[in-house]
Amino acid sequence: MLKKVTILTTLLAVVLLFGSLAFSGEEAKTKHEFVGEKKCKMCHKKDGIHPSWAESKHAKVYDLLSDEEKKDKDCVKCHTTGTTAKGVLLEGVQCEACHGAGADYKKKSTMEDHEKAIAAGLIMPDEKTCKVCHDNVPEKFRAKEKFDFEKMKTKGSHEMAKKAEEKKG
Ligand code: HEC
Ligand code: HEC
Ligand code: HEC
Ligand code: HEC
Repeated sequence: MLKKVTILTTLLAVVLLFGSLAFSGEEAKTKHEFVGEKKCKMCHKKDGIHPSWAESKHAKVYDLLSDEEKKDKDCVKCHTTGTTAKGVLLEGVQCEACHGAGADYKKKSTMEDHEKAIAAGLIMPDEKTCKVCHDNVPEKFRAKEKFDFEKMKTKGSHEMAKKAEEKKG
C-alpha cells in the first residue's frame, strides 16, 4: 500500500515537472525584446523597404491620438508597437509589430538564414498578425470596408525588396 502511494506521488511529481518545463520553454520562445525601427533601417534602407514603410500610414498612427488618448491604454495598444528593454515606447505600427520583436534575429548571420531567423522570433506576417489590430477596432474609427488580407497585404505594409530592385533597374 505504502509503495503504491510512493509510486503515485513520484509519477505526479514527474508529470508536474515536465508540465512546468514545457510551459517555461513555451514562454522562453515568445519572449524577445523590441529594438525599434531605427535598428532595422541600418540594413533595410537600401532595399527600399524602410523608406516605403516610413511613408505609410502605419508609421504615423500614434499621431492620430490626442494627448489625452495617448494616456489611454486601450488606444495605445493598437497605435504603438511595444516597449524596448530600456522602456522606450515605440510609436506607430513599426516593423516589429508585424515581424516580431527583433533583438534576437537582427544579426546579419541570423537574418540571412530564414530558419534561424524564424527560430529567433522573426514572423512572416499572415492574416492573424494584422487582425490583432484590424479586428475589434472601436466602431467610431472603424473603416467601412471589411479587412481583406490579400488586398491589404501590400497596400498596408511596404514595397517588397524585389519590387524595389526592379525599380532601380
Ligand atoms: C545587420 C543587418 C540587418 C538588420 C539590423 C536587420 N536586417 Fe532584416 N535582413 C537582413 C538581410 C541581409 C536579410 C536577407 C536578405 C534580404 O531579404 O534582404 C534580411 C531579411 C529580412 C526579412 C526577410 C526574411 C526572410 O527569411 O524572408 C525580414 C522580414 C526582415 N529582414 C526584417 C527585419 C526587421 C523587422 C529588422 C529590425 C528588427 C531587421 N530585419 C534588421 C539584414 C538585416
Ligand atoms: C483593436 C485595435 C484598436 C484599438 C483598441 C483602437 N484603434 Fe484606432 N484604429 C485601429 C485601426 C486598425 C484603424 C484603421 C481603421 C480600420 O482599419 O478599421 C484605426 C483608426 C483610428 C483613427 C483614424 C480614423 C479615421 O477615420 O481616419 C483614429 C483617430 C483612431 N483610430 C483613434 C483611436 C482611439 C482614440 C482609440 C482609443 C479609444 C483607438 N483608436 C483604439 C485600431 C485600433
Ligand atoms: C503592417 C505590417 C508590416 C510592417 C509594419 C512591416 N512589414 Fe515587412 N512584410 C510584411 C508582409 C505582409 C510581408 C510579406 C510576407 C510574405 O511574403 O509572406 C513583409 C515582407 C518583408 C520582407 C521580405 C521582402 C521580400 O521582398 O521578400 C522584409 C525584408 C521586410 N518585410 C522588412 C520589414 C522592415 C525592415 C520593416 C520596417 C521598416 C517592415 N518590414 C515593416 C508586413 C509588414
Ligand atoms: C499594431 C496594430 C496594427 C497592426 C499589427 C496592423 N495594422 Fe494596419 N493599421 C493600424 C492602424 C492604427 C491603422 C490606421 C491608419 C490611419 O488611418 O492613418 C492601420 C491602417 C491600415 C491600412 C490603411 C492604410 C492606407 O494607406 O490606407 C492598411 C491597408 C493596413 N492597415 C493593412 C495592414 C496589414 C496588411 C497588416 C498585417 C500584415 C496590418 N495592417 C497590421 C494598425 C495596425
